Amino acid sequence: MESADGKTCDRIRNCSRRVVLEIETVRSQHADEFNHDEDAAGYDADVSIETHPIRAGYSDVLSWVAASAEIKSSHTVLELGSGTGNLSILLPKCARLVCVDVSENMESIALSKPVLAQHREFIKADVLEIFEKLPKFVDRVVSTYTLHHLMEPEKAIFLRKLWEHLPQGGVACIGDLMVVTASEVEQKMKVYKATYPEVTNALKEEFFWHLDRQSNVAREIGFEVESRRFSDLSYGLKLVKG
Ligand SMILES: C[S@@+](CC[C@H](N)C(=O)[O-])C[C@H]1O[C@@H](n2cnc3c(N)ncnc32)[C@H](O)[C@@H]1O
Repeated sequence: MESADGKTCDRIRNCSRRVVLEIETVRSQHADEFNHDEDAAGYDADVSIETHPIRAGYSDVLSWVAASAEIKSSHTVLELGSGTGNLSILLPKCARLVCVDVSENMESIALSKPVLAQHREFIKADVLEIFEKLPKFVDRVVSTYTLHHLMEPEKAIFLRKLWEHLPQGGVACIGDLMVVTASEVEQKMKVYKATYPEVTNALKEEFFWHLDRQSNVAREIGFEVESRRFSDLSYGLKLVKG
């Protein structure tokens, strides 16, 4: 409601701006729970077993993300959830590679692997809070098997942050655990219950992307969206800021 001098209206605007900022700078709720410090030693052996439904398509997903991000030698690339560096080593040469993860143990394994980037740095941070520590724009954002640790509203915040930090023509490529619709979660939980109970648990306790819904959110923000299926649970999502 506006007072005669317009001050009430200003207060409301200031107030709502403050609320938005508080939401935007939040650390993701489950960052500590999904920190992979404890899994680091066995991680690379684990991901090599692609007969397991969670790992099926792993190497194809990483190769697709590395190729589809259209990285050039002049680019600054942000990699979210860099883990043991399995995606980093596939990325084409770029000017600067900023790797982000909450796990120091995963990073210590990544450090032993060669990357093509002219300059690589690691920042121990949450995938949402990192955006506040970055320069305004990064040319490319890549991520594999990490962002399903964000809850659905956090994914929407993440997509908006992507839009704010990519220049026109900027690309984000995400490979991750996804289902097409929310209703598939229950259905797949039943399918895997007897054979792979840990998959059923992951579907229950983690936040697999709902491809239809989150693609729509990305389109509403303004992205051009392309997706690709690699296995029953793994998909790639390419977002272009057109
Ligand atoms: C399943 S691993 C994927 C690692 C690598 N990208 C790959 O494809 O092999 C997930 C990684 O994300 C990190 N992680 C989980 N939640 C995170 C968060 N909120 N912020 C930053 N890193 C996170 C974990 O520590 C772990 O290294």
